[in-house]
Amino acid sequence: MTSDPTRRQPLRSTPVVTETGDQQLNGAAVPVAEPNDKATMGTSAETSGRTAVGVDLTDHDLYRGGFPHELFVELRGRGAVLWHAPAVPRPGGASIGFWVVVRHAEVQRVSRDSEAFSAADGPSIVASPALRGHTLTHSDGHDHTRLRTLISAGFTPRMIGRLEDQIRIRTREILDVVAGMGECEFVRDIAYLLPMQLIGDIIGIPEADRSWVFAQTDAIIGGASSAPVGASEAERQLFAYAQQLGEAKRRQPADDVWSLLAAAEIDKNEGASLSGLELDFFFAILSIAGSETTRNAISHGLLALLDHPEQLASLRAASLGGDTHLLDTATEEIIRWASPVTCFSRSATRDVELGGAEIRAGDRVTVWYPSANRDERAFDDPFRFDITRSPNPHVSFGGAGSHYCLGAHLARREVRVMFEQLLTRFEGIEVTGPVTHNVNGLAHSIAVSVKHVPVRLVTRPSSRTPGA
Ligand code: HEM
Repeated sequence: MTSDPTRRQPLRSTPVVTETGDQQLNGAAVPVAEPNDKATMGTSAETSGRTAVGVDLTDHDLYRGGFPHELFVELRGRGAVLWHAPAVPRPGGASIGFWVVVRHAEVQRVSRDSEAFSAADGPSIVASPALRGHTLTHSDGHDHTRLRTLISAGFTPRMIGRLEDQIRIRTREILDVVAGMGECEFVRDIAYLLPMQLIGDIIGIPEADRSWVFAQTDAIIGGASSAPVGASEAERQLFAYAQQLGEAKRRQPADDVWSLLAAAEIDKNEGASLSGLELDFFFAILSIAGSETTRNAISHGLLALLDHPEQLASLRAASLGGDTHLLDTATEEIIRWASPVTCFSRSATRDVELGGAEIRAGDRVTVWYPSANRDERAFDDPFRFDITRSPNPHVSFGGAGSHYCLGAHLARREVRVMFEQLLTRFEGIEVTGPVTHNVNGLAHSIAVSVKHVPVRLVTRPSSRTPGA
């Protein structure tokens, strides 16, 4: 078994734009149109003064074995910002051409300059203007500050610090179960459960409802074959559930985020109120953002450590010896290595130069975190997994702009505590079968995830659990 991200399928020059400028997707020719009325149909991007990506980054086949890092290396070599010929990110949806930002410095610039690069059309490649100003991920400026201030009360480092005990308790419960099994499926039985339980605790979702709630979020992002319904039905059911939960919390408030937000829904104070739609989307964003991403970081982290047994051994020694510094740097490196979010998008609000590209007002601009996190310009030896790496300016949580991940503290704690306890408790962890990946709609931004990692766990005879 290996998860070396440098070991990827050969660079693909297939598909995409035919000589007539049509797009071949799943065998079907789809007529293309440039956004922003740029009339270059049928011409390559080079001929219009732009560096072309040259492959279809929305083609799921590109990601079957993980991220196409060889391709990203090649793209970074050609430029910081490249033009992607019109593609169809969402099957059956609109065709769209867009900019692809692959280098670290430019990803940071887009993330930080919300005046030139607006988040209001949402994070997906295809813009969703209907939600402008109504969700955290579809807003800028005042709208964004209002929503972020409301929710931030539940996510301060101090609050997350209080959750540390809860993270330990949940981790221990999960590992108790698998210790009794000996063999398990790591994603389903371990990596999936910790983020689900934690975000459930934070939002205040009753335990009995959690499996159902997260089956809906899986259906929305297309993540699990076990999902019982389609994405839009799942969204409808999740929103109905969020409203019911809000009513219950208003009747009987608790110390959780949903009590806070449900109260804000009826608060008439300017700046502190939330519409029903906004409340619905809060629920969806929190439950999706809080689960799939951290699950992936934990799964990738395990694979990376198993691929580097000497580092696994030193992290185990650090966990047993209470070396918190190594646990911290290892956590950052795992999150850099995993890059759980593939790409997020912005819209240019005006004509702007970025990394040598002339971007026009209204263009969609996508930032590719896995590429930026392996940028040779920002990291020494970026393809070396190194749990001692410091500094580690990864952009897995975003490029430090106003939309920087709200759950970053929480995710870090979860990853850290999980590995600390996993390595302390089990003296052997061995992959027993093929590792597979899930590729979901890139339109949903979180697209490439580890699906199955069958493992055998050998319990340490006298396992001592840190913090127990
Ligand atoms: C390793 C795990 C995680 C990764 C890699 C991750 C990554 C990201 C990224 C890349 C963004 C967009 C940043 C930008 O647009 O500049 C984001 C935003 C966000 N994340 Fe996370 N995330 C993780 C875990 C979590 C968790 C546990 C939560 C819990 C609630 C969460 C909640 C959010 C929210 C609400 C936003 C939107 C913030 C805004 O637009 O203001 N994330 N995350």
